[in-house]
Formats: sequence, structure tokens, C-alpha cells
Amino acid sequence: MTDEIATLSSAPDAPIAHQNTRKVFIKTYGCQMNVYDSDRMQDALAKDGYVATDVMEDADLVLLNTCHIREKAAEKVYSALGRLRELKKKKAGEGREMMIGVAGCVAQAEGDEILRRAPAVDLVIGPQTYHRLPQALERVKRGERVLETDYAIEDKFEHLPAPEKAKTRARGVTAFLTVQEGCDKFCSFCVVPYTRGSEVSRPVEQIVAEARKLVEGGVRELTLLGQNVNAWHGAGPDGVEWGLGELLHHLAGIEGLARLRYTTSHPRDMDDGLIAAHRDLPQLMPYLHLPVQSGSDRILKAMNRRHTAAEYLALIERIKKARPDLALSGDFIVGFPGETDEDFEDTLKLVEAVGYAQAFSFKYSTRPGTPGADLKDQVPEDVKAKRLERLQALLLKQQHAFNEMCIGREIDLLLEKPGRMPGQLIGRSPWLQSVNVDAKSSQIGDIIRVRITGTGPNSLFAEVAS
Ligand code: SAH
Ligand code: SF4
Ligand code: F3S
Repeated sequence: MTDEIATLSSAPDAPIAHQNTRKVFIKTYGCQMNVYDSDRMQDALAKDGYVATDVMEDADLVLLNTCHIREKAAEKVYSALGRLRELKKKKAGEGREMMIGVAGCVAQAEGDEILRRAPAVDLVIGPQTYHRLPQALERVKRGERVLETDYAIEDKFEHLPAPEKAKTRARGVTAFLTVQEGCDKFCSFCVVPYTRGSEVSRPVEQIVAEARKLVEGGVRELTLLGQNVNAWHGAGPDGVEWGLGELLHHLAGIEGLARLRYTTSHPRDMDDGLIAAHRDLPQLMPYLHLPVQSGSDRILKAMNRRHTAAEYLALIERIKKARPDLALSGDFIVGFPGETDEDFEDTLKLVEAVGYAQAFSFKYSTRPGTPGADLKDQVPEDVKAKRLERLQALLLKQQHAFNEMCIGREIDLLLEKPGRMPGQLIGRSPWLQSVNVDAKSSQIGDIIRVRITGTGPNSLFAEVAS
């Protein structure tokens, strides 16, 4: 009966009720910073009455949070927009409007072109202006097609709502926290300095407040993010300039925060303070993503990485001395312009010397507007493909070897989410491996001691250690 009254009484207000339950679908491409940004956009939209949906067809607003790093990544956006145009048409036929927005690095780099090539797009918004999203949507509703890609003068983080307790709980026991954005390094292959602008560090108080909120919401493991996260610096409460090492020390003091990580770091910004943090902080996990891109000094120079292969290897030695159980992951590019067979062999040699636990490797992709695009001696696609195949075979072998080496070891496992089988949970090892173990769902968020018993293609298996 009460239901019926509710239904009847809500009928005259239908448009308002509809307004209150607007749904947003966000599709995230690219790196972890986009994952973080998508969550922040969702929080900003929640204040405007939007709820998130996993079903694109149900959405009143579809946002694509895009990546421009390689040509393939950028192309994905246009094919997704083609499909969305059809959906928008279909929904319009049913009398339901759907707004389409493009955010992220493709929005920043190709905003005008998106509006020109994809007439179904209502809104293009760059990564520095997400706090203006609600106003931009208002303008769309008034019939405008909006392009919002100026680098904002105001700080987007200050204006975006911080993650809310209840939401972070729903989002899990691990979380990302962006501490630094943008890049001043200008590696000659890379679009990031153009899509994300110059380096900006968030102030300590902002970071600490957000970290506390996340931990209060149930987060046990925090990954600090930045395109160049170890270039982070800022004035500490003592007025002294801090680097990432000091910031990690400070965050490690937050009660209930069990684990810290940071990504992605540049070899040139691994300073003594940060290396000392690896030595001194048990909360800082012994796993470091430290991309090198190439093992050839000639290519490293042409890439403008501003270090040699030997310097990279020496750096790893120093960090491992500070934290002997440290495992490494990295990024590689094969087929940068001018790369010879010999240069590529140097990359394989470096990989052999390091022994990676995990790594990402890519064929060089020419990005318009970067210095690399103008270089002669572009490497043919088939050569790139062959090199990538060899490199990936080696990296995969190393990954398997690392996983095999873990068998029989006792480790701490952070229980994260339900496993595939009932009665199982998936946890994270200190080295970011997914591990299946028998455990109750009430244990999610606990750190338990387990013994690794075996390896599968994508995860490890463990039993609870007595
Ligand atoms: N700031 C990080 C990298 C961010 S981009 C660093 O300096 O290492 C992530 C990875 O994408 C890079 O490490 C690189 O391996 C890859 N990448 C970037 N531009 C690329 C391009 N033009 N072609 C192929 N891979 C690229
Ligand atoms: Fe790109 Fe180089 Fe900056 Fe990394 S350091 S984001 S690869 S320009
Ligand atoms: Fe891609 Fe932008 Fe991240 S180009 S990798 S989404 S910073």
C-alpha cells in the first residue's frame, strides 16, 4: 500500500525524480592516474545527483576517460565514439537523451578534432579542468557543445571533492592517491608533458587529509601516483622542503595504514631520501616500478632520458642494498627511431642483468608533436614486432622465474576481494602478485600470513601458514 502511494504521489514529479537518479557510465583507458581521476569525476557528479552505472545503455551521461600515449590507445576512442553515436540515436528514438563526454589525455591533445570528427560528442574536458565538470554539463543542457581544455589556473584537487568514506569502503581496501601531476622531462617519444602539462606537486596537508580519509574508509594499502611521482616535493609542516621519501615517512605514521607504494618513478629522481625510505619503512612495499625504456646508451640519449644503462644498474644496486627483498618492474620501448640490432641487444642485456618480476613493453609509436616524430630512421613495423616478441619472451620468462621462486615462501597477504571459487579470497603479495587462498569474506582487509604453494598463469596459490 505504501508503495502504491509512493508511486502515485511521485508521478506528477516524474521529471524531478528522473533528475535525481541520473546515471553516469565512465569508461577509463590508460594509466592509474586516469583511474584516480575517473573516481574523482564520479564523486563530483554524485554531488550533482548522478549515480554510477555499469550498464552503458542505462546511462544519461557516458564519459570516456581517454589515453593518448600510443596511437592505438588514441584510436580506441574514435571507435568507441562510433558505437556511442548509434546508442545515442537509438535512445533518442525512445525519447531518452544521452550526453557524451570525452575526458583525459586525448581530450586535451585533440579536443577540437574530436568535436569536428564526432558530432555526437557534447563535451570535451581536459584533465586539469575536471572540477568544472558540473558547470560544463549545465552548459551542455543549455544546448552548447563544450570544449574545456585550458590549463586551469585554480588547483583542480582543491575543488574536486575528496573521496568519501562510504565510497572508498565500497571501492575496496587498496586505493590510489595522486600526489603529483604532469611532467617536465620531455622524453622525446612521449606526449605526457603536452597532455598533462608541467609538473605540479600537491601540498602535504591536502595529501595527508585525503590519505586519512581513505584509511578511515577502510583502505589498508595506498599507492601514491604521479607521472613522475618521485619528482614530488613540497614544504613539510616543519617548513623544510620535503621529497617523496619524507612524505612516505609521514604517511607511514597514519594509524591503520598498513602498506604504501608509489608509481611511476623516473630513475633520475631516485634521491637518497627516497632510497632511505625503502630501508627504513616496513610499510613501503619492496616492489618498485622503475622504467628504463632501453638498455642502449645511444638510444637513451636520443630518448632524452638523461642517464646511461650503467647508471640505471648502479642505482638498482643501491636501492637493493637498502631493501634486499626489492623486486623490480619496468617499461620498455622497442624500435625507437635509429635503434639498431646492436642497440636492441643492449636492451636484452640490461634485462638479463636486472631480472624483472614484471614489465611492460611496447613498440615505439610515433606521436605527433613530439621530437621523436621528426626523427629519420624510423624502424619498420616488422622489425619492431620481432624485437618486441623476443623482449616479451625474455620478460615473461623472468616473471615466471620470479613467481616460481616464491613457492614455499611465507609472506604477508592483504586480503582484497572474493576469489573465483566460493570460500576463496584474492589477496595481494608485497610484490603485487594476486594470490588465491581459502578465507572468509569477513577477512577482507586483513593481512594474513600464508605460504605460497603454486603458480597459475595470472596468479599464485597459497595456504594459510600455521
Ligand atoms: N613517466 C613514466 C612513463 C609514463 S608513460 C616514465 O618516465 O617512465 C608509460 C609508458 O608508456 C612509458 O614508460 C613508455 O614505456 C610507454 N610509452 C610512452 N610513450 C610511448 C610511445 N610513443 N610509444 C611507445 N610506448 C610509449
Ligand atoms: Fe613521458 Fe618521460 Fe615524462 Fe615519463 S618522464 S611521463 S616517459 S616525458
Ligand atoms: Fe595515457 Fe594520459 Fe596516462 S596519455 S598513460 S592517460 S597520463
